[in-house]
Amino acid sequence: MSKPESEQNMDEFEVEVECLMDALFLRWGYDFRGYSRASLRRRVDRYLADNHYQRVADLQHELIRDKKRCIHFVRGLTVNVTEMFRDPEFYRVIREQVVPELKSHPFLKIWHAGCSTGEEAYSMSILLQEEGLGERAVIYATDVNSQVLDQASKGVYPERMLAMARDNYRISGGRGSLDDYLSVGYERFLIDPILKKNIVFTQHDLVTDQVFGEMQMVICRNVLIYFRRELQTKVLTLFHDSLDLGGFLALGIKESLRNLPKQFRYKAVDEATRVFQRVD
Ligand SMILES: C[S@@+](CC[C@H](N)C(=O)[O-])C[C@H]1O[C@@H](n2cnc3c(N)ncnc32)[C@H](O)[C@@H]1O
Repeated sequence: MSKPESEQNMDEFEVEVECLMDALFLRWGYDFRGYSRASLRRRVDRYLADNHYQRVADLQHELIRDKKRCIHFVRGLTVNVTEMFRDPEFYRVIREQVVPELKSHPFLKIWHAGCSTGEEAYSMSILLQEEGLGERAVIYATDVNSQVLDQASKGVYPERMLAMARDNYRISGGRGSLDDYLSVGYERFLIDPILKKNIVFTQHDLVTDQVFGEMQMVICRNVLIYFRRELQTKVLTLFHDSLDLGGFLALGIKESLRNLPKQFRYKAVDEATRVFQRVD
């Protein structure tokens, strides 16, 4: 069996990054110690260059003493890339294979963990409206990064993202026109406020915060890839404990259940888009 990532040989820079993460946790409670080493390395490297630090030690010295610097740094540690109807086949699977089961519930609770700037939650809200589930669903859209959540709750995006959003929507099996759900102007597009009605955007840290209870679906795409094996196991346990029996866990094309604790049971709904159903 291979060693956990935390016990593998590290070069000098990686040792410095590891110490930096320990300092961040000890001083301010932000816990990035379980993030993948390669990802942390890239993010810290970029932060040093962008902010003109010569050495990790200089940044560490400042981070320990200055909360504002710490918040700025933490925002730079997360990767927030996202788009409307990202990986459209994922939404097609939800529409065709999950929605029919969701229709049997009088009330639905759906959790988007790591929602970034909100496009994923708005896409789901559109899908639910079109499937006649909009009125009975509440979407909890969470992220560790408060800055992206501010953008998410505004629902305003650059117009240059719109062409791709329209294509994605069409490929995902959208039943109308995406433009029915937004308005365009000043090189931006604005999500129809009606779609916000059933979305609650709130800060939640998958590493340190608690379970979100009795969800019928948990969606967490493009987040676990940044975590080490042990942290993935911890977060998959959190999702399991947050799901209703028969609830759906939707991880998207880049993730897997490889690090799921053995005692948990899921049935694959769709292997390619990694949509699973909790069976015990
Ligand atoms: C690449 S984005 C994915 C956004 C969206 N789920 C998608 O697939 O398009 C990853 C998001 O995970 C969030 N994230 C990273 N660590 C997190 C944590 N510990 N708790 C909650 N969210 C986290 C980041 O802030 C970022 O917004």
